[in-house]
Amino acid sequence: MKVSGLSIGYARRPVIKDLTLAPFKPGTLTALVGPNAAGKSTLLRGLAGLQRASGEIHLGDTNLLRLSLPEYSRHVGYMPQSLPQRVALTVYEAMLSALRTSQGLTSSTEARQIAMTTLERLGIADLAMRGLDELSGGQRQLASLAQAIARKPAVLLLDEPTSALDLAHQHRVMSAVQELGVERGTITIVVLHDIALACRWCERILVLSPRGLAADAAPSKAITPETLASVYGIEARVERCSRGFVQVMVDGIVCDRDF
Ligand SMILES: Nc1ncnc2c1ncn2[C@@H]1O[C@H](COP(=O)(O)OP(=O)(O)O)[C@@H](O)[C@H]1O
Ligand SMILES: [Mg+2]
Repeated sequence: MKVSGLSIGYARRPVIKDLTLAPFKPGTLTALVGPNAAGKSTLLRGLAGLQRASGEIHLGDTNLLRLSLPEYSRHVGYMPQSLPQRVALTVYEAMLSALRTSQGLTSSTEARQIAMTTLERLGIADLAMRGLDELSGGQRQLASLAQAIARKPAVLLLDEPTSALDLAHQHRVMSAVQELGVERGTITIVVLHDIALACRWCERILVLSPRGLAADAAPSKAITPETLASVYGIEARVERCSRGFVQVMVDGIVCDRDF
């Protein structure tokens, strides 16, 4: 996927301005991090075809922005940051419905099989018959992720999929998303607030600030004390853990944010 000259905004508020990014390779996992209101969700919704955008988003030879929404969503799967609260379906029914609308799967046997395997893969098969409206926040998040994954999109966009999850489920989700991405050649972009989690699992980190893109590189290049100071306004140490992953220790707030 190649993004060029992408602009996305609201009536009087441009948020993403003329963004061009290096191509996203199949099978790779990219984190999108940045402070509140930087535009992460806006960018993700734009990439998902759900927010009016100008510019180009190419997947192979296709400019996705020229497609109708149903065609668009066949290529690109999206999990929103805020999930619908009152949906009178069971987890399993919601999976079948997601599969029907995205792939036009008429074979219900195949759809049922994909639905159950996906729930098992995320460790939530036991929730299949529970109503979505009677789940905890974390369980709802897992169910929503399962719907996005089951569609097997070429591009998978996840907006804070781990924000309500305990440590074990965070690990399970990141690991499943990474494995499935490699197996299926999916381009996955995931919004995360936890920079250590991002650096542990993602090979590429996009750091977005309200001023625009502050970094786009491998974890150790993207996450530096200088970037953290200018983007988050924090004084922080960036160190490597005993396994070589980037860790961030925040020592204080500085007020020289570059916006
Ligand atoms: N529907 C909307 N209408 C107008 N402005 C919006 C809307 N949604 C978000 N914004 C504004 O766009 C900016 C980026 O928001 P968002 O993309 O949600 O940030 P993030 O996900 O990084 O926290 C913020 O200033 C926010 O107030
Ligand atoms: Mg957001």
